[in-house]
Amino acid sequence: MILVTGGAGFIGSNYVLDWLETVGEPVLNLDKLTYAGNLANLKEIEGDDRHRFVRGDIGDSALVERLLARYRPRAVVNFAAESHVDRSIHGPEDFIQTNVVGTFRLLEALRVHWDTLAGEERDGFRFLQVSTDEVYGSLAVDEPPFVESRRYEPNSPYSASKAASDHLVRAYGQTYGLPVLTTNCSNNYGPYHFPEKLIPLVIHHALAGKPLPIYGDGRQVRDWLYVGDHCRAIRRVLEAGRLGETYNIGGWNEKTNLEVVEALCALLDELQPRSDGESYRSQITFVKDRPGHDRRYAIDAGKIERELGWRPAETFATGLRKTVKWYLDHAEWVADVTSGAYRDWTKMHYGQGGV
Ligand code: NAD
Ligand code: DAU
Repeated sequence: MILVTGGAGFIGSNYVLDWLETVGEPVLNLDKLTYAGNLANLKEIEGDDRHRFVRGDIGDSALVERLLARYRPRAVVNFAAESHVDRSIHGPEDFIQTNVVGTFRLLEALRVHWDTLAGEERDGFRFLQVSTDEVYGSLAVDEPPFVESRRYEPNSPYSASKAASDHLVRAYGQTYGLPVLTTNCSNNYGPYHFPEKLIPLVIHHALAGKPLPIYGDGRQVRDWLYVGDHCRAIRRVLEAGRLGETYNIGGWNEKTNLEVVEALCALLDELQPRSDGESYRSQITFVKDRPGHDRRYAIDAGKIERELGWRPAETFATGLRKTVKWYLDHAEWVADVTSGAYRDWTKMHYGQGGV
């Protein structure tokens, strides 16, 4: 089996569902179930005995050691993290605890476990660190997209904590020979995306008749990738990536935030028009910018294409349409999520009035 950490979050749950459907090998899923972890994401595999869920922290060394000894996974894919930049600005502590200390403890437990393995079990073992393009910092408008050799220049507590964990992963590969792989991916979107992030937040706010908050001038650029394409890329790197290497993953799809929000409004106008006949665009509201807001991210995904033959399958048009339809068809999931801790967070982040 494989061990997936953070498999109840947005990308992790998509990965577990995709893995069971395509590969079919059993998955041990270790997730702390923070505000971002949601077992409802895994509803469609309820009762499937190929999936075993354990609630726990990657930083709980005793638990991780027990799980490794008992289940002897052949690979570990580490999605577990605090992932939201705005939260890291309000309270960086959890990001350091999970992304830095947690990853360190996980690596330590793996190093000790891997040292007990021999032969094929040892040679075939893999640890894959799921990381982000944010570790590279911000690009100027005319700069070429990030390549793997780009220096790390993180600008938020979130990206700094991810950069630190990537460095630890590299060090465990170099120093102890642990068979590690790292992927640095651009912005994902798709089903089960927590509605604190731009795309699901805009869909939710639009339908709820609330303002669609655009930070600053809305001209920041992100490179959007459909989550299913990310899952497929990780599978491919796990299967055939060269040990110790890092692979950038992206959609070749740079968009300004304003373009993304306008595309969402156009889709919603078509699929679920407002009863007053107005466009959802009229809900767009410019709000105070995010401090230290990175201006542009863009990924050069040439290496993974050349070495492993991966390219995104979805275009932004097909992926975004699928996503909007998914949210329209899963109003109950959104209602469950938004009635919980998310509400408190919204109040804290946007003030009592909310947006
Ligand atoms: P998410 O916030 O939706 O999910 C994170 C999951 O990790 C949650 O289920 C949470 O309960 C769990 N978790 C948090 N702390 C934990 C701990 N200490 N022990 C065990 N589980 C813990 O995040 P996501 O968007 O799915 O991102 C997953 C990974 O992919 C992260 O490492 C993130 O940095 C990376 N990434 C995300 C994106 C993106 O666009 N969302 C892009 C590139 C890379
Ligand atoms: O690039 C990969 C990263 O993408 C991942 O590592 C992170 O885990 C993930 O959260 C995401 O980070 P971003 O900060 O780019 O995503 P977010 O959805 O928070 O914001 C996308 C852009 O939209 C960003 O420029 C900020 C802006 N934004 C966001 C929100 C929530 C707004 O203008 N308004 C909003 O309400």
